[in-house]
Amino acid sequence: MGHDLVIVANRLPVDRVTDRNGKNRWRRSPGGLVSAIEPVMRAHDGVWVGWPGGTQKFKPFKVDGLDLVPLAMSAEEIEEHYEGFSNGTLWPLYHDVVAKPEFHREWWDTYVQVNRRFAERTAELANDGATVWVHDYQLQLVPQMLRELRPDLRIGFYLHIPFPPAELFQQLPWRRQILEGLLGADLVGFQLPGAAQNFIRLVRQRVGHKTHRDLVYLPDGRTVRAAAFPISIDAAGFEELARSESVAERAEAIREALGDPRKIFLGIDRLDYTKGIYARLRAFGELIRDGALTVDDAVFVQVAVPSRERVEHYRNLRDDIERLVGRLNGDLGRIGRPAISYLHTSYPREEMAALYRAADVMVVTPYRDGMNLVAKEYVACRVDDDGALVLSEFAGAADELRQAWLVNPYDMNGMKAALLEAYNAEPKELTRRMKAMRRQIAQHDVKAWADSFMTELEDESHSHTKTVRPATLS
Ligand code: F6P
Repeated sequence: MGHDLVIVANRLPVDRVTDRNGKNRWRRSPGGLVSAIEPVMRAHDGVWVGWPGGTQKFKPFKVDGLDLVPLAMSAEEIEEHYEGFSNGTLWPLYHDVVAKPEFHREWWDTYVQVNRRFAERTAELANDGATVWVHDYQLQLVPQMLRELRPDLRIGFYLHIPFPPAELFQQLPWRRQILEGLLGADLVGFQLPGAAQNFIRLVRQRVGHKTHRDLVYLPDGRTVRAAAFPISIDAAGFEELARSESVAERAEAIREALGDPRKIFLGIDRLDYTKGIYARLRAFGELIRDGALTVDDAVFVQVAVPSRERVEHYRNLRDDIERLVGRLNGDLGRIGRPAISYLHTSYPREEMAALYRAADVMVVTPYRDGMNLVAKEYVACRVDDDGALVLSEFAGAADELRQAWLVNPYDMNGMKAALLEAYNAEPKELTRRMKAMRRQIAQHDVKAWADSFMTELEDESHSHTKTVRPATLS
């Protein structure tokens, strides 16, 4: 039996957990993406294809009524497709080359192989004329592979991370194949308009297709549209959680456990070199060293969520940050008063909401970030219209959260000044800024994001009658 909608993503929206009795079971991942897509999946008899993590093979299964189809990867595929090409080549390349991307031909071959398996499985699952929504940088070849197998399908692709300017993208030895892979879709969605423009420009320059504004005209009569759909969060869900008594009490308990400082600074990030964790902790440390803050006034809580721990850049980053935290606490802290409260762990949504409620200044300083949902979650949890957000200009969220203290994370003095301003801001000023940001987040939540992408994908007329010359090789 087939499906009218297939969601294809590198990961399944579930985690394998071991319960108290030592039994393994699946638990829904906490992210907003699955809750946004779930209603669409139910309405269209949908199925989700993805990697369940690890090398173990599982049969298709259901969690909370959602149909899930796991695609296993071998140890070699994990190393070369996931850790290698996806996170050692594409991830740094697409994030402004913050770290040096590695180009290995074996990684590319395995990326092609895994993308093909996703495409073939999807082709088996989709009903005649079904809609397929492919997600993210790990699966950029799937749209074209799928179109070749099943020309009847309507295919959408959404990139959750930035799409780089031509000057960087063209380093990629397989640049043309990636662009052609994406052109298998009818609609290619990005976080920001600039990313969609980068894509259109590259398609014109590197593949040689005719383009006009956000459209690409293919010689076979198909039209591909590239547009921005800024992703968001379940704003109402976070707000409700933040208003709950248990979260409010937990926020109080956190403040008390930290020694009731005048103000709490907070950073919550995956432990990733794009996030600018090192620079922000250094800026905070310098403010204490300069005497602008003291450890009685302020503490910095940094939650670093373990991520991609087998990739070398990530292991080095962890060492660097932990050395810095040790040094700052050793140099600046007193007994019971560390400068930085560092936690290398992940927390459930409730604890995150309590941290957001407890924090007076939220610090989000990536060097490059597709969107950054932590910034939006903080805003959604500030139910009293207070608290300050210090936000990097280079996070996609900066386009919407204009009332944050916007910073350039490469500018140490600028970042120090913004942290201090946010720390000293008058309550009236905080309320003015937070109210405006909360309005934005409430109106543009993850449901609105999913609806607008799906509406566009379903409604678009995806063909043209223009005579266009065949693509020229770059
Ligand atoms: O931001 C891109 C992304 O792939 C997210 O979809 C995901 O939550 C995060 O990075 C972590 O990714 P991974 O699957 O590598 O743990």
